[in-house]
Order: sequence, then C-alpha cells, then structure tokens
Amino acid sequence: MTGLAPVAWPPAPIRTERLVLRPSEARDRTAFIELFASAEVGAHLGGARPRAELERMVPQVPGRRPGLFVIDLDDTMIGVVTFDRRDAERPGHVRPDAGEAELGYMLLPEAWGRGYAAEACAAALGWFSDALPGDPVVLRTRTANDRAMRLATKLGFTEVERFEEYGAEQWFGVWRSLTPSR
Ligand SMILES: CC(C)(COP(=O)(O)OP(=O)(O)OC[C@H]1O[C@@H](n2cnc3c(N)ncnc32)[C@H](O)[C@@H]1OP(=O)(O)O)[C@@H](O)C(=O)NCCC(=O)NCCS
Repeated sequence: MTGLAPVAWPPAPIRTERLVLRPSEARDRTAFIELFASAEVGAHLGGARPRAELERMVPQVPGRRPGLFVIDLDDTMIGVVTFDRRDAERPGHVRPDAGEAELGYMLLPEAWGRGYAAEACAAALGWFSDALPGDPVVLRTRTANDRAMRLATKLGFTEVERFEEYGAEQWFGVWRSLTPSR
C-alpha cells in the first residue's frame, strides 16, 4: 500500500540545518537509478536492479507520490525518506485496524556516515507528528542491517517484535510523538 492519506500532499519543502526535504523532480532521475542500481543500498533490500532495466523503466519524474520526500543536499538528491501505509496482510502492527504509517530510508552510499539520514528522518518525523498528531510510525528492517538498526534506535523507535519475512529475521519497531492524540 502506498501513500499517506489523509495528509495533503506535497507539503512545503522542509529545511534542516544541512538538507531540504522536497517532492521529487525530473532532475532526480539519475540519482533514483543510482539508488536502485547500487549493490550496497540493495544489500538488505532484495538486491540491486540491473541498470539497463532501470534506464528503461524509471519514469521521467520518479517517486512522485504522497509520502515520498527526496533528501536534497546542495541542490542534489542524496536519497529518499518515505512514509507508506502498512498492509494488513503483512506481519507487524500496532493498531487493530493496521494501515500504520511506515518509515523507510535509503541514501546513496557516498552520503552515508555523515548523519544525513538521521537529520532527514528526524525532520520527516517532526513533520509527520504535526500532520497526524498522535499517530504512531512503524519501521521494519532486517536485524542484519546494522546501519538501519542504529538509525532506528537513534530516532527513538522502540522494538515491538521480531519476525521472519523475506527469508530473514526482521526487527519491527514503533515511534510515537509526544503530541497527544486528537
Ligand atoms: C540506513 C542508512 C540510511 C543509514 O545511513 P547512515 O549514514 O549510516 O545513517 P546516519 O545518518 O544515522 O549516520 C550515522 C553515521 O554518521 C556519523 N556522523 C558523521 N557526522 C555526523 C553528524 N554531523 N551528525 C550525526 N552523525 C554524524 C555518525 O557517527 C554515524 O556513523 P556510524 O554509523 O559509522 O557510527 C543507509 O545505510 C542506507 O541508505 N542503507 C541502504 C538502504 C537501507 O538499507 N535502508 C533501510 C531500509 S529499512
């Protein structure tokens, strides 16, 4: 399930100390292809996709959908932060009606190790808690994905459970803003 209904989309660009979170544009196409063709990025996400296939399949303006923020550093895309509604059929839920907002993050390897992912995700979570006060955000990552696990903890996600999915052990956590439910 994609999107982030009922939030109005896109919001105004979000500025952090070093980054801007914004909707995607045609000029981001090369960076999207790099992300999906990267063996390092795909290591815990089912692997890289062939570059030739991506060149054929990726639309002229990739990633134009509610819930997808491009992470922009000095006018160049370095990754994405995403929110998607978690399908009821999948394992891992914190609400009886499922459909929780799930956070995802992917950065180009040259941007790793500088705190950009943490800075972007913290800003995205801040935006989310204003847009949907009191709503939880969930996150799933392979337990073997050290960087993603460190980031989840740093952002304030706490473990709910672990389960097997896609042939690997998954960590499933939740983040709740301090804003009370409406
Ligand atoms: C998961 C991912 C986004 C994490 O990226 P990251 O750069 O490691 O994450 P952070 O932004 O938290 O940066 C942390 C590192 O920046 C370092 N750092 C350097 N300057 C910093 C600064 N100014 N502020 C904060 N941290 C800084 C930290 O010390 C830390 O280093 P360490 O992890 O080696 O200890 C990245 O590895 C990725 O895109 N992976 C592939 C996609 C993926 O697996 N996504 C998860 C799917 S659930």
